[in-house]
Amino acid sequence: MTVPSLGLGLVGCGSFGAYVLDAVAGLPGLHIAAVADPEPSRAKPLGDRHGVAALDGLDALLGTEGVDIIALATPPATHAEMAVAALRAGKHVFCEKPLATTTEDAARVRDEADRSAGTLVVDHVLRYNPLLRAVQQLIAEGLLDPPRRFLFENDAADQDLGPGHWFWDPEHSGGIFVEHGVHFFDAARALLGSEPESVRATAVRRPGGPVDMVIADAVHPGGVLATHLHSFTHAHRCERQLMRLDHGFAETRITGWIPTYATITAWVDDQEAARWEQLPDRTRQLLTVPGYRPHGDERITVTVHRDAGHAAPARGRGTERTVPHRVEAVIDLGGEPCKPYAYTESVRAAADLLHSAAGGGSPVADAYAGLTAVAVARAATLAAETGTEQKVVLPGRPAAAPRPAVALSEGSAA
Ligand SMILES: NC(=O)c1ccc[n+]([C@@H]2O[C@H](COP(=O)([O-])OP(=O)(O)OC[C@H]3O[C@@H](n4cnc5c(N)ncnc54)[C@H](O)[C@@H]3O)[C@@H](O)[C@H]2O)c1
Repeated sequence: MTVPSLGLGLVGCGSFGAYVLDAVAGLPGLHIAAVADPEPSRAKPLGDRHGVAALDGLDALLGTEGVDIIALATPPATHAEMAVAALRAGKHVFCEKPLATTTEDAARVRDEADRSAGTLVVDHVLRYNPLLRAVQQLIAEGLLDPPRRFLFENDAADQDLGPGHWFWDPEHSGGIFVEHGVHFFDAARALLGSEPESVRATAVRRPGGPVDMVIADAVHPGGVLATHLHSFTHAHRCERQLMRLDHGFAETRITGWIPTYATITAWVDDQEAARWEQLPDRTRQLLTVPGYRPHGDERITVTVHRDAGHAAPARGRGTERTVPHRVEAVIDLGGEPCKPYAYTESVRAAADLLHSAAGGGSPVADAYAGLTAVAVARAATLAAETGTEQKVVLPGRPAAAPRPAVALSEGSAA
């Protein structure tokens, strides 16, 4: 049976819209149908590059024959209204993050997605990253204990963000927690397997300028603390990021905002040491994300230092274990040079939208994931503005629709 190819219409022909089109061009089951932007100097060259019509906005796209998927790559404050309009018109939606700039608007999109025949995916690229999926899997298999601490330190670049850029204006971007933080609130939700209950935060303004540094402490159920720091103050070459997970008897350190390299150290017993030693043979299985084409340089290496520690039991937070061996594992997607590759492939894999559109379950980064991330980001923003702890409140669904569990890898790209 031949699966009909779905036509994708892009709204917003700026830098990331062009990137998304390049990433998804050539995906089986999808073709680029048209592009739209009120700025002809952006729409026309992009349309010409892909050999499709250049229109002036969403309405024109919705009125165009053969557009089945609307990809939204406009500034954040425009996303919710456009996503709702596209879903109402029966289209599928590939929405750039954030899903919306307020929790209420994100909930409206979630509700519309629940009602609509169309499917919505939010471009939370980290959810399609093989390295994070592998760490999630190791937690699910019990090789790593559930993290009791999550830390993300993001020394991000502001080199391309001139003073007039919409990024700095919360009216357009939602502010740093919303515009950028959503990626990591969502990643924390996936890795910790829960949504935070409350958040405290601080925002720091550059002298005479906008807020360019924010930090939030989010408390997840079971006494798990997640810290998110974003500092847009660096030259490109000085960008650095560290995601750190404390599993008690083990630690995971992941580098790169698009994760490409992780080290894990763990104290284990004989049985666990043997399980860790099997991981290199499972490299392909652990690093498979449907729709993400492996680069070929991916590797998992494991070294077990036997009897590296005392044979007496070790104790932490009330748990006692006899763990004499120290494991050192590396999960490597090809390191920093592979970041552009991993980024593009993760965007491409978010087209698990196609699989869902064909009736194959929910995308991993669905509207609920988008709403949750925005709700945490808004609570963090309010916490920083008011200097008070904020509860994270997720608007309930109007109907008794089931609340999806945190997805590991359901859905797959065509
Ligand atoms: N997922 C990721 O990793 C990632 C990375 C970068 C950017 N983004 C997101 O992509 C989106 C776009 O970012 P960008 O850097 O490309 O911005 P940009 O400013 O380069 O481009 C935005 C484009 O949208 C157009 N536009 C504005 N309002 C419009 C409207 N009402 N209708 C149609 N077009 C309109 C503008 O003319 C412009 O061409 C943002 O939401 C951003 O957060 C996501």
